[in-house]
Amino acid sequence: MILVTGGAGFIGSNFVLDWRAAHPGEAVVNLDALTYAGNRENLAALDGDTGHVFVQGDITDRALVDRLLAEHRPRAIVHFAAESHVDRSIHGPGAFMKTNIDGTFTLLEAARGYWATLGEPEKAAFRFLHVSTDEVYGSLGPQDPPFAETNPYEPNSPYSASKAASDHLVRAWHHTYGLPVLTTNCSNNYGPFHFPEKLIPLMIVNALAGKPLPVYGDGMQIRDWLYVKDHCSAIRRVLEGGRVGETYNVGGWNEKPNIEIVQRICALLDELRPSPEGSYTRLITYVKDRPGHDRRYAIDARKIERELGWRPAETFETGIRKTVQWYLDNAAWAQRVQSGAYRDWVQKQYAA
Ligand code: NAD
Ligand code: TYD
Repeated sequence: MILVTGGAGFIGSNFVLDWRAAHPGEAVVNLDALTYAGNRENLAALDGDTGHVFVQGDITDRALVDRLLAEHRPRAIVHFAAESHVDRSIHGPGAFMKTNIDGTFTLLEAARGYWATLGEPEKAAFRFLHVSTDEVYGSLGPQDPPFAETNPYEPNSPYSASKAASDHLVRAWHHTYGLPVLTTNCSNNYGPFHFPEKLIPLMIVNALAGKPLPVYGDGMQIRDWLYVKDHCSAIRRVLEGGRVGETYNVGGWNEKPNIEIVQRICALLDELRPSPEGSYTRLITYVKDRPGHDRRYAIDARKIERELGWRPAETFETGIRKTVQWYLDNAAWAQRVQSGAYRDWVQKQYAA
């Protein structure tokens, strides 16, 4: 079996659902603290599945992690758990340092202790896969080549700095202790179960509610977008065939300025759920820019293709259409996650 952390969040829950479908014979222990971003409802399809063991708990709880490893004896840890939203990291960086740095440290130490107790060949086969972000590389100029695995780390936000720190810990635990680690650095994901604080789901739920679509600054910041199921397949591939100690950049070959993303969402909603008040583009509202806003991210994903034969299955066109349709089909889910705490966040971030 494998131990997944953060498997009730956006990417983690997609990963667990896909894993149970792709590997029905291999169980998942899912350790998640159920912060504001974690949601058991994402995993409702696995109710009654004895191959999914959900444990509510914190990755900084060493005794708990030790106990889960001793009890379940996983062959791998796939580490998603993190505080993940840049804007929240600007308002309150403390939780990011605790979960992303201390939490990764705790997992690495627990993994090291457990790994040392394994006999061969379990020891040789064990993997610690750390799920990270392209944001650790900083911001690109318009003419710069996309991020390669060899780019220097230049994180600019409290979020990306905390993820960069966690990547360095993972690297050091391999070089110093020989722990068999793998790291993936992926671009912006989108798809089902995406919490509506991030750009794409926020625009969809706001548009459907007739609320403003807040575009930061001039809307010309560029991100590379990857459909979440493609990220999950890349992680499975790296876990299966990645070279120990290596990092793999994962991306969608799909750079777009934010304003184009918002316009595309409006066009899809105009087609699928037309509003009597006219095109959803009428709701686009330029707002104050994010402090320290990274201008451009782009991923060179040739290494994972060359070494492991992975490429995304979705284009942006197919992926965004599926995503908008998912939010239309799952309006009750989207409604339920917009709790009082969510509304407090929206008020804090967008009041001005
Ligand atoms: P998310 O915020 O949706 O989910 C995070 C999950 O981790 C939640 O279920 C939360 O309850 C859990 N969690 C938080 N703190 C915890 C703790 N201390 N102990 C146990 N569980 C805890 O995040 P996401 O978007 O699914 O991202 C998952 C991972 O992928 C993160 O490590 C993130 O840095 C990385 N990543 C995200 C993106 C993206 O576009 N979302 C892109 C690249 C990499
Ligand atoms: P986000 O989804 O928060 O991801 P990240 O900051 O990790 O890339 O934001 C994606 C881009 O969209 C980023 O350039 C900030 C911008 N953005 C807006 O313009 N308006 C918004 O309300 C949000 C949440 C993001």
